[in-house]
Amino acid sequence: MSWPGVYPRYRDYLPPISDEHIVTLQEGGTPLVRAHNLERRFNLPCALYLKCEGANPTGSFKDRGMTVAISQAKQSGAQAVICASTGNTAASAAAYAARAGIKAFVIVPEGQIALGKLAGSMIYGAHIIQIQGNFDKALEIVRQIAEKYPVTLVNSLNPHRIEGQKTAAFEICDALGQAPDYHALPVGNAGNITAYWKGYGEYFAQKKIAKRPVMLGFQAEGAAPIVLGHPLEHPKTVATAIKIGNPASWQGALRACDESGGLITTVSDAEILEAYRLLAQHEGIFCEPASAAAVAGVLKLAQHNYFNRTSTIVCTLTGHGLKDPENALSAASTPTHIVRAELHAVVRAMGL
Ligand code: F0G
Repeated sequence: MSWPGVYPRYRDYLPPISDEHIVTLQEGGTPLVRAHNLERRFNLPCALYLKCEGANPTGSFKDRGMTVAISQAKQSGAQAVICASTGNTAASAAAYAARAGIKAFVIVPEGQIALGKLAGSMIYGAHIIQIQGNFDKALEIVRQIAEKYPVTLVNSLNPHRIEGQKTAAFEICDALGQAPDYHALPVGNAGNITAYWKGYGEYFAQKKIAKRPVMLGFQAEGAAPIVLGHPLEHPKTVATAIKIGNPASWQGALRACDESGGLITTVSDAEILEAYRLLAQHEGIFCEPASAAAVAGVLKLAQHNYFNRTSTIVCTLTGHGLKDPENALSAASTPTHIVRAELHAVVRAMGL
């Protein structure tokens, strides 16, 4: 039987929604891949797994939460949904709204959305409004709109988003037969770290796992309000997905970190891009720069002997690399050759 999607699979852990209102693209069921080559290359004493969320239908983890939020919106008779986004939430909301026959308004920072994300939102038929401001400003505006007008907010402030996203933690425990020792992920608006911690907590309460993991959150150095302890007016990072100065789920992130005995710390853009290249060139996994922040962080902690020999670490790779072709082209170290269309010219270019 094919994978049914996160709602049918984990219905018992999710808010009640009747079958006729479920809007699914059979999201979830994503690969959990062991990173043997990175383990060897960095002499890691532990097992490193990558949860490849770019394999979701619109190319990011957002689909897990969106299936629940849009299904709920449909059940409650909503005609329109709205979100602010750095791109992935927008594409996901647009796709699920299209499938539900609901209008989607997506509010994004002008000129700061990776091409694949904008293209997705456009082809799914969302009503796209680019603001001359950043994500935090867009979120402030959509919150006010959702309060005043008949449009349902589908940012992670909507609790159904968190409910859906927590299923990634369930899948990891189901695959490993237990919780990992550490779970690392990038932190932007902080909904995902909040969701994972909730998911692990629920499996723990149900005695499906004997312990919960230590949660490790990574922000980009130029966009690290949680690490700095104050909001930022002008966050900066190459990882546009997590270019956020005032995360909505700030408290959720702190709770995950404190209750698990974990940490939230920074990685530089250079470290992010290095991990981005390493994942592609040594594991064959093309994620977007924000996703690589988790791996960059784990490699940095490993250098300081943070992990035990027996540890199992899972990094969530939150989005697919094809979302952001511009960064891939500029970060790739491999030159392309243009030669005459002749055998000898090609052989010479091959270095043979
Ligand atoms: N990675 C990717 C690829 C993302 O798109 C996001 C968030 C994150 C990590 C951070 O997750 O916000 O739950 O802490 N993207 C949002 C968006 C903000 O609008 O697509 P978070």
